[in-house]
Parts: sequence; structure tokens; C-alpha cells
Amino acid sequence: MGIHGNGGRRHWQPLLLSGLAFFAGLMTSLFLKIETCKEVLRERSVEVEDPILCLKSQIEPDLKSLPSDFFTFHNKCREATPLAKVRSMLLDEIFDGVSPFEGFPSPHVAPFLRKESIKGWGSRAKVFDELLKEVRPQLIVELGTFLGASAIHMANLSQSMGLQTLILCIDDFRGWPGFRYTFKDIHQEHGQAMLYYQFLQNVITTNFTHAIIPVPFSTTSAMAKLCDVGIQADLIEVDAGHDFHSAWADINRAWALLRPGVGIMFGHDYYLRADNRGVGRAVNLFARLKGLHIQPHGSHWILRRPRPSARRSPVISDPEHVRSEKRKKRWQETSS
Ligand SMILES: C[S@@+](CC[C@H](N)C(=O)[O-])C[C@H]1O[C@@H](n2cnc3c(N)ncnc32)[C@H](O)[C@@H]1O
Ligand SMILES: *[C@@H]1O[C@H](CO)[C@@H](O)[C@H](O)[C@H]1NC(C)=O
Ligand SMILES: *[C@@H]1O[C@H](CO)[C@@H](O)[C@H](O)[C@H]1NC(C)=O
Repeated sequence: MGIHGNGGRRHWQPLLLSGLAFFAGLMTSLFLKIETCKEVLRERSVEVEDPILCLKSQIEPDLKSLPSDFFTFHNKCREATPLAKVRSMLLDEIFDGVSPFEGFPSPHVAPFLRKESIKGWGSRAKVFDELLKEVRPQLIVELGTFLGASAIHMANLSQSMGLQTLILCIDDFRGWPGFRYTFKDIHQEHGQAMLYYQFLQNVITTNFTHAIIPVPFSTTSAMAKLCDVGIQADLIEVDAGHDFHSAWADINRAWALLRPGVGIMFGHDYYLRADNRGVGRAVNLFARLKGLHIQPHGSHWILRRPRPSARRSPVISDPEHVRSEKRKKRWQETSS
């Protein structure tokens, strides 16, 4: 019996030891991987608290070999239009000079609207309150408005802070194909859902028509227009298309609308798994190219425009940046 027992122990002891050694090796390599990953992100000034998320958020294409079209966006905006003129200028440019709230609702849509139907996603998160208090914005641009939940919340916050903030709501007000499976109460006629009309109704019901101006177009064409007419926002909220390409284009175009020196851009769904983590990957890539620090906040992300003196050099070569650095150098050489 004793001999048997000893023989058995002799048999499984080395097995157990090598098993333990293997497990320890595995854990060590995972630990090292996570540490390296965190280090890389730290260098890019990206804070990631969740270590597994860190491993997943790596982007490794060779960006230097991509054509500059990928990084070059319409960003030569007209000089800022004075705030006092923004409302009437936009009404003229977009609505033939007549407020979209005037005479609303007309008889053919009135029967299909609810007095109030406001459903959003994280639309009253703490980040809105904090950023409005920090920035005290005079002009906010929102990309992605839907029924107006976040815009109305921001209008309410700014009112309670004694501000007279103007909020431009960019949305094509079409939601997405099939959104009415979840929003059956939004009436549809000839295939056109009344999302825009219900949004207008919500703004009227909550008494914020003085603060909110809809810009009912695609984010691309709306932002090109705002850039051309000299709109400069103190705060921009990005919450429209959540796939990489939409988010990437929105973030890049919106950046050009931010008031120099002070603006903050933030957006929803930084950690969203849907659309192959499109939002997170677009935000990370943008921050990496611009050498910006990403501040995650709940499910939101925040990017602050660096003050000119505190500007960090981009982590990797952004073709646009390299060219402008070369231009700057040439200019310095010729002017000295
Ligand atoms: C998630 S919802 C916005 C929610 C809103 N921020 C809230 O908190 O209540 C996204 C919106 O983006 C709009 N959208 C998506 N892609 C767009 C595009 N390319 N141009 C304009 N609007 C777009 C949709 O119509 C939809 O209303
Ligand atoms: C506005 O804020 C007040 C105070 O927090 C709140 O009671 C009210 O419901 C809000 N109104 C809207 C329309 O969000
Ligand atoms: C909006 O204004 C009307 C008229 O002044 C008032 O009766 C109503 O209570 C207000 N609604 C809200 C949500 O503040």
C-alpha cells in the first residue's frame, strides 16, 4: 500500500509542478502583455482603466503609408461669425429666414404627434452637467439629436446656469433603417418617419425654441456649411453614426468647428462593442494623430483642444501635420 502510494505521488508530483509552472508562465506573459499595452497607451496619453480593454484597443496599421486623404478634412473655416448674428444668419442660410418652429405644427402633421416623446441614450449623464459648468458655452454643436433628449437636457442645464446658450442640432432626422421597430409611436407616411416633427414638438413642449436650432441634414454637409459660414462652437457633442468611418469623419470635421484655444469635444459610446468598436477606434486614432489626451467619462469620451503653448507633437506622422511643419520651417528660414 505504502509503496503504491509513494509511487503514485512520485507520478503526479512532477505533473502538478509542470502544470503550475505552465500556469505561472501564462499569467506572467499576460501580465507583461497588459503592462506593455498600458505603457504604449500611456505614451499616447490614453488612459485605459480596464486592462482587457487595453489589449483590445490597439490599432496597428502602418499609417505612414496611407494616402493623406484619410487624414485631410475640410477645415479652412470662415472667421467666426459674431454670436449675436448666428441665429438670424442660420435661419437665412437654412430656412429662408423663417424659424422652423413658426406656426408649428401644421394641420397635416398635428394629428400624428405626441405632446412629448423624448427617448435617448445616456442623454442625462453627469458629463453634460460637468462640461457645461466647465465651459459655460455660448454655442454648442450636437451631432446626432434624434428626439432631442440630450439637446433638451443641455438647454435645461444652461438655462439653470443662467447662460443663453445656442444649441445647433445636426441630424438628418431619419434615425436608421428599421428604427421604428423600437419607436412605433413615431408615425410614418409614404416611408417618411416624422422624427423631425416629433423633435420640433418636443422642443416646443419643453419651451426651448429660443435655445435650439435644428440643422436637418447629414453631418457631412451640415458641418461643411457651418464651417463655411464661420460657426465656432465652444462645445461639440458627437453622437451620430457609430461605425468607424462615420465617427472618424464626424470627429475630424467637428474638430475644425471648435473655437480655437478653448473648445471641448466629447461623445457617447466610447466603449460600445457594436459596429466593431467603431467609436472607440476612431477616437483613439484621432487622439493618437493629434497627440491628444482622451478622458473617458462613464460611457463618454472627452477631448480637449490643447492651448497653443501646450500643444503636444503628434505621436506618429500625420501627413497634414508634416507638411505644415515643413511649411512653417520654410517660412521661418525665409523670414529670418
Ligand atoms: C444615438 S442617436 C442620438 C441620440 C441623442 N444624442 C440623445 O442622446 O438623445 C443618433 C442620431 O444620429 C443620426 N445620424 C446618424 N448618422 C447620421 C448622419 N450621417 N448624418 C446626420 N445624422 C445622422 C440619426 O438620425 C440619429 O438620430
Ligand atoms: C430641467 O431641470 C429641472 C431641474 O433639474 C428638472 O426638474 C426638469 O425636469 C428639467 N426639464 C427638462 C425638460 O429636462
Ligand atoms: C412652458 O411654458 C408654458 C407657458 O409659459 C408653461 O405653461 C409651461 O409650464 C412651460 N413648460 C415647461 C416644461 O416648462
